[in-house]
Amino acid sequence: TNFEPCDFVLFGTLGDLARRKLLPSLYQLEKANLIHEGSQIIGVARTELSKDEYIKQVKDNIEKFTGETLCPDTWTRLENKLEYVKVDMVNPDSYQAFTSHVDPDRVMVCYFATPPSIFGDICRGLKAADIIDDTVRVVLEKPIGHDLASSKIINEQVAEYFNEKQIYRIDHYLGKETVLNLIALRFANSIFATNWDHNSIDHVQISVAESVGIEGRWGYFDDAGQMRDMVQNHLLQVLSLIAMEPPATLDADDIRDEKLKVLKALRPIDQSNFSTNTVRGQYIGGFVAGQEVPGYLEEPDANQASRTETFVAIKAEIDNWRWAGVPFYLRTGKRMPAKTSEVVIYFKRQPHNLFKDSFANLPPNKLVIRLQPDEGVEVTVMNKVPGLNTSGSMDLQKSQLNLSFSEAFSDERIADAYEKLLLEVMLGNQALFVRRDEVEQAWNWVDSIMAAWQSSNEPPEPYQAGTWGPVDSIGLLAKEGRSWFQQK
Ligand code: BG6
Repeated sequence: TNFEPCDFVLFGTLGDLARRKLLPSLYQLEKANLIHEGSQIIGVARTELSKDEYIKQVKDNIEKFTGETLCPDTWTRLENKLEYVKVDMVNPDSYQAFTSHVDPDRVMVCYFATPPSIFGDICRGLKAADIIDDTVRVVLEKPIGHDLASSKIINEQVAEYFNEKQIYRIDHYLGKETVLNLIALRFANSIFATNWDHNSIDHVQISVAESVGIEGRWGYFDDAGQMRDMVQNHLLQVLSLIAMEPPATLDADDIRDEKLKVLKALRPIDQSNFSTNTVRGQYIGGFVAGQEVPGYLEEPDANQASRTETFVAIKAEIDNWRWAGVPFYLRTGKRMPAKTSEVVIYFKRQPHNLFKDSFANLPPNKLVIRLQPDEGVEVTVMNKVPGLNTSGSMDLQKSQLNLSFSEAFSDERIADAYEKLLLEVMLGNQALFVRRDEVEQAWNWVDSIMAAWQSSNEPPEPYQAGTWGPVDSIGLLAKEGRSWFQQK
């Protein structure tokens, strides 16, 4: 096993991601005894802070963001692993501070929870302090760039110091239990494995709805928009897992090779076809869960002229043998009625209907994979209504075969995606991290759509906060006789 001690160095330890996600995840891993007792966690930021002050901040954050009363034993073990080093991350000389804290005999994991603009500086600093070799692992947070060109620059900067085997690019959706389960569902079940193509499947929907707005992140979000923030990474990764060919093994590169092929097969969307295949929206004020919320342009610091999209719907097509003629509809937005993400596979209708008397149109079977919340898998089937009657006809009813994770695995807590990914980095397994060519291929597809939007000079379509997005997103499916899946 690769369960060995490491120096886990968290650059940007006082930032939002570290406070909200990474430190609470380290706590949960500690609680489950999944951090080696010989490991150290070294927080790095540019603020002057004593070790005690740092430890206190970490504790407060973990309490706040796990919502748990800390287990004293777990906390003591974690606290004993914590160190803090002040480093001015853009100044290579400043990294000397840090050399006495790392143990050259241990694997060093460097998590860059900082803006990507300083990834290169951190690499340079580590090199200047002479503490890198080819056992070091670096973890890069998204966004890797703003488009293909800028992502190449960042990837190049890091590649000057580290080879691809050392680089772990995070897409936290790949750490979600339900996203990982896509691999199990597809390849451990012949019922799905043999029906997973254009012969059996009519279309696929991937919907990631969020009820939050931009949560005070105007500066970041307005520059990015929902396409760069969600589609380029999370939605395309989920799409790749659903569409990929069976990998030869579960090894990192076997899986990533297959995902890459899907990304390469995505039919380009450009000026010639964007208007029939994409919809973008921007929310205006409305009500979400009974609460009145402001529109995007009324958010604090808003630039009134902003045309940034907070909603995207796309009809994607994969030009390969398996998926010919099967649309993948993607939809994601902020300020939608609820936080709910799901993948829905719509199977083809039966070729002939024996049950016309009770059902003029037999509905298609659907496989609903609920990514979050209420994680689970559901298959809708037609079932006979039990009972006797004199009409001689058979009454049918749409019914659900429902696997709810919280019922089926009631003893298991569903780990946060970051817990899984941090554990995998510490174990040195790259399968759940995104390879450079995947990131770049995804940008390539997204850049072309964004360029078409830009050149069209049309603003995004407004939608009221608390609705499922602009009217045109409904039209995107309706014009093809389909509709978005609605959770009950
Ligand atoms: C992040 C985006 O990557 O994913 C956020 O930057 C978004 O804008 C978040 O809210 C959604 O993640 P999750 O796990 O809450 O679905």
